[in-house]
Amino acid sequence: MQVAKRLDRLPRYLFVEINRKIAEKRAEGVDVVNFAIGDPDLPTPSHIIEYMCEAAHDPVNHRYPETAGLPQLREAIAGWYQRRFSVVLDPNREVLPLIGSKEGIGHIAFVFIEPGDVALVPDPGYPVYAMGTLLAGGEPYFMPLRAENDFLPDFETIPEDIARRAKLMWLSYPNNPTGATAELDFFEKAVYFARKHNLAICHDAAYTEVAFDGYKPPSFMQASGAKEVGVEFHSLSKTYHMTGWRIGMVVGNAEMINALFRVKSNLDSGIPQAIQHAAIKALNSSQEHILEHNAILQRRRDKLMQVINQIGLKARVPQATFYIWARVPQGCTSIDFADKLLNEAGVAVTPGIGYGKEGEGYVRFSLTLPDGKLEQGAERLLSWQGRQK
Ligand SMILES: Cc1ncc(COP(=O)(O)O)c(C=O)c1O
Repeated sequence: MQVAKRLDRLPRYLFVEINRKIAEKRAEGVDVVNFAIGDPDLPTPSHIIEYMCEAAHDPVNHRYPETAGLPQLREAIAGWYQRRFSVVLDPNREVLPLIGSKEGIGHIAFVFIEPGDVALVPDPGYPVYAMGTLLAGGEPYFMPLRAENDFLPDFETIPEDIARRAKLMWLSYPNNPTGATAELDFFEKAVYFARKHNLAICHDAAYTEVAFDGYKPPSFMQASGAKEVGVEFHSLSKTYHMTGWRIGMVVGNAEMINALFRVKSNLDSGIPQAIQHAAIKALNSSQEHILEHNAILQRRRDKLMQVINQIGLKARVPQATFYIWARVPQGCTSIDFADKLLNEAGVAVTPGIGYGKEGEGYVRFSLTLPDGKLEQGAERLLSWQGRQK
């Protein structure tokens, strides 16, 4: 048996390695406090689950779904965008449900990237942007996200020949892993760049609903001209704590949506319909629980920020996402520092290098662990710091 050469292009998935190290520690009897998982610990709100259970009993929902999703779901997505962002979408041409946004993010590379083509990818960034590009035979060009630029890419520094070869640009705000946010003027600069170089923009908006201090992150689709050049990926995962149910969506440019639909309709058979009904319920009912979840996360953020400062790490207070992106002490790599915290404090964090070269020098703390565990992790970090002197 011989697997295809394209698999050799994929780097080793660092997160598998982290999980292995955590499992090893646990096998040694250490009750690891895990700040490395980006998956909401709080359950899906019960009204959504109840609706899904009802739908699961209906035989209509036992059959193959359509790749395009239920018309009521596309309408619910368009309605949600209208209420949340005042963005008007045609549910039949400008909305496509996905089996989680990761699926669409991976597949859209096949719409734009031919062997040798370039995709502009943020570094650090969610790894799937680069992996999709590599699987399609393309080359990621990494746009550095640095603290001095507020973790926004500087379009001016992209070389002309790269811009000419680029078919696609990935952006994502609020940002995983840096926790940075972007405003409409930045998105408008991106639209200008895309028009100038005739490329498509894919904006990953997985975290627009996870925000603090009353801040409401904008949608890329609110930027003037966005719909001419791009699409936005969204997800019910973080917004409604539905990571395990696998449902998301992409909205925006009708031509891009139709092209992705053509890829998907040949590869998948849509989202189980009971889950589509759950999504309709989530999008159409009260959004009050989002505020409740964010209040919990904000409390955790404040607690952990305090501890991070006390142990001498530097980090910006995130206005959105459930991540804190902290600088490791000088002279330490992100992997060494993460290993040190795991071995000496029984605390797991994600090394920044897992998100790209520019992630070196940082670790990511996630806030998605129960209050008691977070408290335990905080105590361990403080006592570890005490032992350093
Ligand atoms: C930035 C970003 N985009 C997309 C996803 C994928 O989300 P899902 O496939 O659950 O919709 C994640 C998940 O962690 C993420 O962090």
